[in-house]
Amino acid sequence: MTSYKLLLLPGDGIGPEVMAEVEKVVAWLGNAGLATFETEIDLVGGAAIDVHGKPLADATLAKADAADAILLGAVGGPKWNGVAYDIRPEAGLLRLRKELGLFANLRPAICYPALAEASALKPELVEGLDMMIVRELTGGVYFGEPKEITTLPDGSKRAVDTQVYTTAEIERIAHVAFDLARKRLGRVASAEKNNVMKTGVLWKEVVTRVHQEHYADVELEHVLADNCAMQLVRRPKQFDVLVTDNLFGDVLSDVAAMLTGSLGMLPSASLGAIDAKGTRKALYEPVHGSAPDIAGKGFANPIAMIGSLAMCLRYSFGLGVAADRVEAAITRTLASGARTRDIASEGTKVISTAEMGDAIVRELAA
Ligand code: NAD
Ligand code: IPM
Ligand code: MN
Repeated sequence: MTSYKLLLLPGDGIGPEVMAEVEKVVAWLGNAGLATFETEIDLVGGAAIDVHGKPLADATLAKADAADAILLGAVGGPKWNGVAYDIRPEAGLLRLRKELGLFANLRPAICYPALAEASALKPELVEGLDMMIVRELTGGVYFGEPKEITTLPDGSKRAVDTQVYTTAEIERIAHVAFDLARKRLGRVASAEKNNVMKTGVLWKEVVTRVHQEHYADVELEHVLADNCAMQLVRRPKQFDVLVTDNLFGDVLSDVAAMLTGSLGMLPSASLGAIDAKGTRKALYEPVHGSAPDIAGKGFANPIAMIGSLAMCLRYSFGLGVAADRVEAAITRTLASGARTRDIASEGTKVISTAEMGDAIVRELAA
């Protein structure tokens, strides 16, 4: 059986806590003969700053480049608030995304039946929710230049971030969204703000053209990003695939996360372009961050991280059966009533991060 090279980058805060649970699942898959992995662990974010003085060592980037896939926990935390902007923990993650060309970030928001009650919205609004946010990940205001703070003659300051998109960048993310929609309900909503932003004008124009030229069978709707945020909480099930830029995608996916019950539920895949050999670079990570407020307490929900492994099995290794099995184990574990603190309702028994990981592994074996 092929052995896949998996680089684990636990990172900071709850990152290592949720990664420890994914390692249990990786070990189980190996023992069950469903997939074998060669895993290696390395540092990213604040943990890397502490050792190397920067959030992503060149040697780590080289390992990431050579791996078949990367699993990342989370980066950041108050401990590193004082470090220089260019070497803050988040810069390590952004460098990984940019250098590996991971332009397509898939963030599925699925409301598990057992969790409809845990959502911030009424259960009937979210029950059965299954949408896919396709976030552009290597362009836009995250990377546009200039990006600076300068001092004006009067001593006050001026800060600039630059939102940039090219035709090619929009085209490739549009293709990802339309291709995904074809395998789902066949509907794409594209969110931008063409009413105030030139990048929004180009975004809408390019998405419209890609649709007309290649995807007449898919339904396309344009929605202004502010309205989109409102629609997500008003009637989330209207969405199938939602494609948007880097910053809007960041914000809208945190909104979508709450529809599913918790930020601790949302996995993600960050994918590069398919190369001549048919492979692509890929990094899998939960949508949530390092959650400094709960780090070290055993409160973290590991489901987003374990769900990210399931996406890795499906998208990087073509192991759909193993991915289905992991996802089914998560579904059954939730149905059995297992709840970490973030998804518990009043009166429910709360279990720890490790207990949730163990419960999922037990269901895998069942
Ligand atoms: P956060 O996502 O870390 O936490 C937001 C809230 O959600 C917190 O109350 C937290 O306790 C809760 N939460 C998050 N994940 C959870 C989980 N798995 N289980 C239970 N509860 C969970 O966002 P933040 O507090 O704004 O950011 C903290 C740090 O994380 C910052 O340094 C930020 O830059 C970084 N961050 C990193 C990533 C990443 O590495 N991909 C993503 C987002 C934020
Ligand atoms: C995310 C995070 C990151 C982002 C940060 C940590 C750089 O919020 O992955 O959603 O803004 O992309
Ligand atoms: Mn985010």
